[in-house]
Amino acid sequence: MTSSSSLSLSLPLVLLLALSVGAHVVDAGEQGLTRIHAYLHEILSGPNATTVAVAQSPLGGNATFGRLGVLDLEVRDGPDLGSSSIVGRYQGVFALADSVSPPGILTTVNVVFTAGEHGGSTLAILGRIGSFEDPFERAVVGGTGAFRMARGYCVTAAVANPTPESVVYEFDLFVKTDV
Ligand SMILES: *[C@@H]1O[C@H](CO)[C@@H](O)[C@H](O)[C@H]1NC(C)=O
Ligand SMILES: *[C@@H]1O[C@H](CO)[C@@H](O)[C@H](O)[C@H]1NC(C)=O
Repeated sequence: MTSSSSLSLSLPLVLLLALSVGAHVVDAGEQGLTRIHAYLHEILSGPNATTVAVAQSPLGGNATFGRLGVLDLEVRDGPDLGSSSIVGRYQGVFALADSVSPPGILTTVNVVFTAGEHGGSTLAILGRIGSFEDPFERAVVGGTGAFRMARGYCVTAAVANPTPESVVYEFDLFVKTDV
């Protein structure tokens, strides 16, 4: 079953944290990094779910270790569905890979830019999510198109719950393509 409860990764329902991702990025320009600022729109259940559990833990009960899933979130240029445009997709797989301190989610994600100045290029993310309550950082390990040979990092922070089953994340990527 792909119910939201079976999918739940301990996402608190109130994620309206007054987070300042900006604090992480003040030196981006000075370090020769390109900053890409966007928003991820996630739907946890229903016919348009963007995040689906594919396999539950073989350990049974409420065990999360071993759970696997797939993601295909909209990447938008703003946090509000009505007034923002889709600039790409955030497509990947995740595994709950921490048996000691769950959730400890391993994510491998392709950010596929479909519009705007980066349209046609992709970035590849590999990294761990230990909690959704604080901003989480992951590595950008490569890219294609304008982002060939890219490296860098991204910081993601949940900023809103427009509905009980949806989450909006502020998504900041900092990449370097010089080799
Ligand atoms: C799912 O998406 C379709 C196409 O955008 C839309 O017409 C429909 O209302 C959506 N369903 C729900 C439950 O949001
Ligand atoms: C799963 O968690 C719920 C809520 O904490 C608990 O009531 C239930 O007994 C647990 N089930 C198992 C099989 O551990």
